[in-house]
Amino acid sequence: MDLSTFFALLTPAGQEVLSAAMALMPREIDFLANFQILSRRYSRELARVALEIAILRGEAASKFPQAEKMYFVRDALQQASSDPVSVYRASRYQEFASVVDLGCSIGGDTQALAHVTSTLGIDHDRLRLAMAQANLKALSLQADLVQSDLLSPLPLTNLLPNAPALFFDPARRIGTRRIYSVKNYVPPLDIIEDWRPRFPDLGVKISPGVNLDELGGFDAEIEFISHRGELKEAVLWFGSLRSGEHRATILPGPYSMSGSPSDVMGERLSDPQAYIYEPDPAILRAGLVRDLAAQLDACQLDPDIAYLTAPKALSTPFARVWAIADWFPFQLKRLRTYLRERNIGHVVIKKRGSPLQPEALIRDLRLEGDGERVLFLTHLRGLPIVIVGYAHG
Ligand SMILES: C[S@@+](CC[C@H](N)C(=O)[O-])C[C@H]1O[C@@H](n2cnc3c(N)ncnc32)[C@H](O)[C@@H]1O
Repeated sequence: MDLSTFFALLTPAGQEVLSAAMALMPREIDFLANFQILSRRYSRELARVALEIAILRGEAASKFPQAEKMYFVRDALQQASSDPVSVYRASRYQEFASVVDLGCSIGGDTQALAHVTSTLGIDHDRLRLAMAQANLKALSLQADLVQSDLLSPLPLTNLLPNAPALFFDPARRIGTRRIYSVKNYVPPLDIIEDWRPRFPDLGVKISPGVNLDELGGFDAEIEFISHRGELKEAVLWFGSLRSGEHRATILPGPYSMSGSPSDVMGERLSDPQAYIYEPDPAILRAGLVRDLAAQLDACQLDPDIAYLTAPKALSTPFARVWAIADWFPFQLKRLRTYLRERNIGHVVIKKRGSPLQPEALIRDLRLEGDGERVLFLTHLRGLPIVIVGYAHG
């Protein structure tokens, strides 16, 4: 889509085509059929972009609560933070008089920041900036937007006399190709060293799978954020935005735990007790399993495995918990007999440290019956075991 077609879409005539496209509730797979319907009544160019936007609005509903009012291009939608994460992240900027959103794209984060403080968005892509402007207007929000290349000195001196806080969200994919090293982010992460002397208060969104060794040179807090049990992103916090070493934040909530990372716990091991906890992926990635175990008065089963066990189940947002019905050394025949004798026909398999393939195991178990259980395939001090669990409470 080019800029002039996008502007044509914003005119009353363009909005009529967009409404007609929205009414079709289109999906990518029906593009041609819907395009033929629309292009009978409207110009082919407007019909095409209206259809593209309407399809993307449908796809964006899982990220943005008001997606049906917004404008996207596909790459920008893929790169956009989802609203609950943006809103949480923006809350860390509440104390600042202003924030600059570097690489603001279609304004996913700009919107959340504009709710908490005076916000300026910068991007070099004119179409994305035009969409960010339209999105802010559609949501009745106000922020300034500037087109500029982040590889040049930041154009902030005239715009914001007092040093603002910064938020930087570099691109971590080119087309469909993911970028793994922070050195290859667009722009590369190292660029923050040019900004930090003048703008020390900075947050940077990075991939949650980042190789932590690449971050060794940065004096920052790293926060891992999960939403509904799925690890979404990591953020580096510098200056007065920094509040610790490692942090795990669980959404919705937010529930946050801060501490010093440790790979291994080791000193508090035990056989399975009455309950088994599966820590949230943000806790695992932040290396805070030991801190969580202390909170829950729980032990590990194995120094290298992050399941926790305890005699009592405490309610926590940082882990899921199951009651343990039984456990024993893993042996296929024994497990099959155990499940048959108890009429267990449905199992959910969870595993840590086991090479077994869940689908193949379920096939080999030849289950029959109505009962349900959760099987944990794991290690107890190096020995393969199975824990039979069931929903707690
Ligand atoms: C990951 S996206 C940002 C997504 C945004 N935070 C959101 O939630 O919608 C990265 C953005 O950085 C912009 N960008 C990349 N290199 C840039 C540069 N050298 N100067 C300005 N913007 C750049 C891209 O155009 C893209 O819109």
